[in-house]
Amino acid sequence: MKLHNSYEIPAIGYGTWQTPNDETAIQGVTHALEVGYRHIDTAAVYGNESSIGKALQQNEIERSKLFVTSKVWNTERGYTKTKEAFEKSLKDLQLDYLDLYLIHWPAASHQFENWQEINLETWKAMEDLYNKGKIKAIGVSNFLPHHLEPLIAEAEVKPMVNQIEYHPGFRQQETVEFCQSKNIIVEGWSPLGTGKLLDNPILKKIASDYGKSVAQLCIRWALQNDIIPLPKSVTPHRIRENFEIDDFAISLEDMERINQMEYCGGSGLDPDKIDF
Ligand code: A2P
Repeated sequence: MKLHNSYEIPAIGYGTWQTPNDETAIQGVTHALEVGYRHIDTAAVYGNESSIGKALQQNEIERSKLFVTSKVWNTERGYTKTKEAFEKSLKDLQLDYLDLYLIHWPAASHQFENWQEINLETWKAMEDLYNKGKIKAIGVSNFLPHHLEPLIAEAEVKPMVNQIEYHPGFRQQETVEFCQSKNIIVEGWSPLGTGKLLDNPILKKIASDYGKSVAQLCIRWALQNDIIPLPKSVTPHRIRENFEIDDFAISLEDMERINQMEYCGGSGLDPDKIDF
């Protein structure tokens, strides 16, 4: 897949939210690279960048073949702090550039009167780093259309990505359509609904018709909706399983059945209500 600045982004990413900063992260990333993932998604607030950095350092894949994403945390918003946060992530990851850097959550109206200004100041730092070549692509995460609109109106470099929660029963269709109409690639975090969808009877039935696991079905479904899924696992056989989704296609009818599913669990985090 290509971002709107023509930069290549691998269609599946390895998610690391809730992966501890120890051997678990080192082994998880190492195994993910072994089975073929080239896209690793992390964030300063996950606290695991130094272990991920070790894993990246130890492997022999050319840097240009890897795609590494991090995110600026909410306490580091604003021009100067964002730049400092970026440098810290870069150092912890032992890299000299990032492929993608995101604003982790929007500053929102329930938190700050000048929330639009705050997002814009953060964005200016991202644009500077992008213009200097220290980041190959920039974007946002958990932004809804009403957060994106004022940012896009003022931005010199338009966001290339919006990373949102995305799984069966939680498609965030309005946000997805808004982004797709503006050439913003949507990435999906927690494509398995943080694991809560794995026992869902509708998904279990459809998955068994294809001889696949529910996790594989959810990941394939996201891809067929043009979303980049970021499944998280620290378990070797699951890491592999989640990457083996190229040998089947979900029929239009089954896509529609999954698209129509009602909410059946997820993170419960709402950008217009959260307070962190
Ligand atoms: P673990 O990391 O212990 O393997 P999400 O990506 O939606 O946030 O879901 C992550 C959760 O789902 C984690 O608890 C992860 O467990 C679990 N998980 C990831 N892949 C699979 C899989 N293929 N089968 C079962 N559980 C999985």
